[in-house]
Amino acid sequence: MAAPKVRKTQILIGDQWRDALSGKTFSTINPATEEVIAEVAEGDAADVDLAVQAARKAFDSGPWRTMNARDRGRLMYKLADLVEENLEELAALESLDNGKPISDARNADLPLVIDCLRYYAGWADKIHGETIPIRGEYFCYTRREPTGVCGQIIPWNFPLLMAAWKWGPALAAGCTIVMKPAEQTPLTCLRMAELALEAGIPPGVINVVPGFGPTAGGALVDHRGVDKIAFTGEYRTAQIIMKAAAESLKRLTFELGGKSPNVVFADADLDAAVAGSEFGLFFNQGQCCCAGSRIFVEESIHDEFVEKVVARAQERKLGNPLDASTSQGPQIDQAQFDKILGYIEQGKNQGATCLTGGQRFGDKGYFIEPTVFSQVTDDMSIATDEIFGPVMNILSFKNIDEVIDRANNTFYGLAAAVWTRDVGKAHRIAAAVRAGTVWINCYDVLDTAAPFGGFKMSGMGRELGEAALANYTELKTVTMSLD
Ligand code: NAI
Ligand code: MG
Repeated sequence: MAAPKVRKTQILIGDQWRDALSGKTFSTINPATEEVIAEVAEGDAADVDLAVQAARKAFDSGPWRTMNARDRGRLMYKLADLVEENLEELAALESLDNGKPISDARNADLPLVIDCLRYYAGWADKIHGETIPIRGEYFCYTRREPTGVCGQIIPWNFPLLMAAWKWGPALAAGCTIVMKPAEQTPLTCLRMAELALEAGIPPGVINVVPGFGPTAGGALVDHRGVDKIAFTGEYRTAQIIMKAAAESLKRLTFELGGKSPNVVFADADLDAAVAGSEFGLFFNQGQCCCAGSRIFVEESIHDEFVEKVVARAQERKLGNPLDASTSQGPQIDQAQFDKILGYIEQGKNQGATCLTGGQRFGDKGYFIEPTVFSQVTDDMSIATDEIFGPVMNILSFKNIDEVIDRANNTFYGLAAAVWTRDVGKAHRIAAAVRAGTVWINCYDVLDTAAPFGGFKMSGMGRELGEAALANYTELKTVTMSLD
């Protein structure tokens, strides 16, 4: 498939597309070829300030917050329709900028984006308060009001989907947005913002400032005109944001990383467990916050599991992401590429057995071979750290109590999975594992209606579902005397 045309590379403030005030730009790279795709305006504090002013004006005096909620929903449906009409272009642009296989962008990312926008469009007129019987002659009720101007900082692994997860509940609630896309992948977010204007979402409701984390992102976190920050990315970045946001006590929601345990019992449907574990780790080049990156396999089936999963890993087809038959693309950038290869070296040096892969694929682009380690022990860095790449780690276990303890032996708590035909065991694990999502006999089944987020250092608050609306509303109590 041919590379798509890049239409938008500037900062969006209100309905104006502008260069950065500094005049600076940065290159966004095609990770499959290491070539520059486009120069993109590099926003910093001065541009963020203008974007926040536009969002503030659209919130404080614009029609968005006060318009009929059902009409707000209709504009969101319209945006979803426009994304659907432009699905092929957006999928190709996502594949080009991020390196993910076009088949994934087309069949996973884009349909999920559209579903998310439609799901929250449906919520717009269903966000309401309660009447409360308080003591005395009073009429007491609550209102759910939009939180205000929301700074949204997103990563590069699912660029458009992360934008949709953040726009959906914010728009439904009547908030306005300043989004900073990841510096690696700004293109699809800018294009979707253009579609939002075309849909009739009022200027200033969605502003997009591409740029780097410490400058553009940091300015958003520091800005007094921003009421809330929603962030997805690394926990260390969240720590920086939390400290900085303390100054103005901004509302915060975080969706961070993980080291999710995937537990395979001997009584599981082995082929299903192998296929699900392979998908749960290698999907999106291993660049998933909920990747099943610690695979605990019961001792008696360990060797058989390993043999089957290695065979599947070796079947993955690496190559040009724009080719429909490709199942694995490159990693996002040089930094991630180096970090992942570094972990592979550590795994080898610390005594794990590298059964397949373990090195760069090809000589151009940030491709890494699907890699499988066995004989991994809990203390090895490949078993403790989020690698965020195509590196599978297999550990073996003897019994359920042991595996529960080991599964929980991490500061992360995003997701977990269990494979067994024993219902009791499945629910024991589901209850015992400290994680925001538990999959039983499946992996990576995400739905817009089901809440998603982390225990412990994997996050704060929940995205998706009705739960995400709480991130974008303030609860107001109104009490009136009946005397
Ligand atoms: P990151 O957390 O640095 O970047 C995510 C977003 O935050 C980007 O838009 C970035 O520009 C912004 N950012 C960075 N520093 C900031 C700051 N000081 N203030 C405000 N915004 C800031 O993640 P990065 O460096 O891209 O990846 C590092 C590791 O993080 C990965 O190897 C992976 O382990 C993890 N990660 C987890 C993700 C998830 O979905 N939970 C997504 C991306 C990365
Ligand atoms: Mg970083």
